[in-house]
Amino acid sequence: MHQLITILGSTGSIGTNSLDVVSQHPDHFKIFALTANVQYEVLANQCLRHKPRFAVMIEPKAAQKLKSLLQSNGSSTEVLCGAEDLNKVAQEPTVDAVIAGIVGSIGLRSTMAAVESGKKVLLANKESLVMAGRLFKQAVARSGCILLPIDSEHNGIFQCLQDNFEIGLKQNQIKLTLPASGGPFRGWNRKKMADVTPKEACAHPNWKMGRKISVDSATLMNKGLEVIEASFLFDIPADLIDVVIHPQSVIHAFVHFADGSTLAHMGIPDMRVPIAHALAWPKRIKSGVKTLDLSLMSDLQFSSPDHENFPSLKIAYEALSYGGDATTILNAANETAVGAFLSSRIKFTQISEIVRETLTNSVISNLETLEEVEESDSRARSVSSQIIEAIAK
Ligand SMILES: NC(=O)c1ccc[n+]([C@@H]2O[C@H](COP(=O)([O-])OP(=O)(O)OC[C@H]3O[C@@H](n4cnc5c(N)ncnc54)[C@H](OP(=O)(O)O)[C@@H]3O)[C@@H](O)[C@H]2O)c1
Repeated sequence: MHQLITILGSTGSIGTNSLDVVSQHPDHFKIFALTANVQYEVLANQCLRHKPRFAVMIEPKAAQKLKSLLQSNGSSTEVLCGAEDLNKVAQEPTVDAVIAGIVGSIGLRSTMAAVESGKKVLLANKESLVMAGRLFKQAVARSGCILLPIDSEHNGIFQCLQDNFEIGLKQNQIKLTLPASGGPFRGWNRKKMADVTPKEACAHPNWKMGRKISVDSATLMNKGLEVIEASFLFDIPADLIDVVIHPQSVIHAFVHFADGSTLAHMGIPDMRVPIAHALAWPKRIKSGVKTLDLSLMSDLQFSSPDHENFPSLKIAYEALSYGGDATTILNAANETAVGAFLSSRIKFTQISEIVRETLTNSVISNLETLEEVEESDSRARSVSSQIIEAIAK
């Protein structure tokens, strides 16, 4: 029996890795819908290969071009367009699993649509948890959705917890350590980082990822977002979540238990590993990734994060400790600042300054609905955009 799958953001790094795993197991998985924002040619090729029932394009002109391309190639995939149709393919009753691989806050509604319809949700879009953590978890509990993290650290934690979100958490019996590679500028000071280009910031030493998460990895904000994600996912307070710099990215998670045992999750840094784990869960399937060659692992290094030169991680911890919509504000300010850096309007080192100033200039409030989450997000974007206007090169 096939599992029917929707991939939100199929043209991105998570999306293409997911399709790679799916295509290795034609007897297990079938694609129901693929979605993208603008990359219609990539999506057309994916549709011709995987023959989904639907392809959703957000940008209308790209949707038209996708339609013509598919028609001229005799494809029977139906092209849909816009955010409403994106939500539709995320909650379609016949779909078994949804891979939430859209980048940024724009992925919130479609991820929540999948969660609320009680599907198996493979979560890559960490921003939706960072923005709406409490509401997100409530929706999971209400709908019976099976939430499986595919962020490699969180997937590793989940595996160390024997696939059980509840183990030991209520009694605070465990601590977590999230490893971070340190990104392309590990060991640099702020002066040296001030003039780095977007291309340099996106050149991650160990992982091939989209541009936004690559910049987040370079500032260490990605690890900050992951601390918040882990706190919401596993119901663990920030002071029981630690971060260690581990440049080789071979260990993806540590879970420390009350009896002094520490379990670690190891593997070659390749997103197909957590994706295959979550797709097949609770079974195991091949991912296309080799097992580790331990004879090459003679030099695994660990050190503390450099908070002075990479302040984003601390800012994320602070936002988590404020509660309310502080992490929503943090996420919005970070997305706005990273966008400004990627379009060369601000310097790399100004990203963390803008996030901090946005938090300082915002009033923290409680969020009860997704509409309130979106209002908080847009208020924070407007505050950070004003800060960027004032300092832009
Ligand atoms: N990449 C990784 O290894 C990795 C690891 C862990 C977690 N994650 C998380 O996974 C998510 C995706 O990251 P990624 O690296 O795969 O990003 P990416 O390569 O930039 O891909 C993003 C995907 O989202 C689509 N998209 C962009 N803007 C959109 C919009 N306005 N509406 C609808 N769809 C839109 C893109 O479509 P177009 O191609 O048409 O622009 C693309 O399919 C992020 O939340 C990231 O933090 C990624």
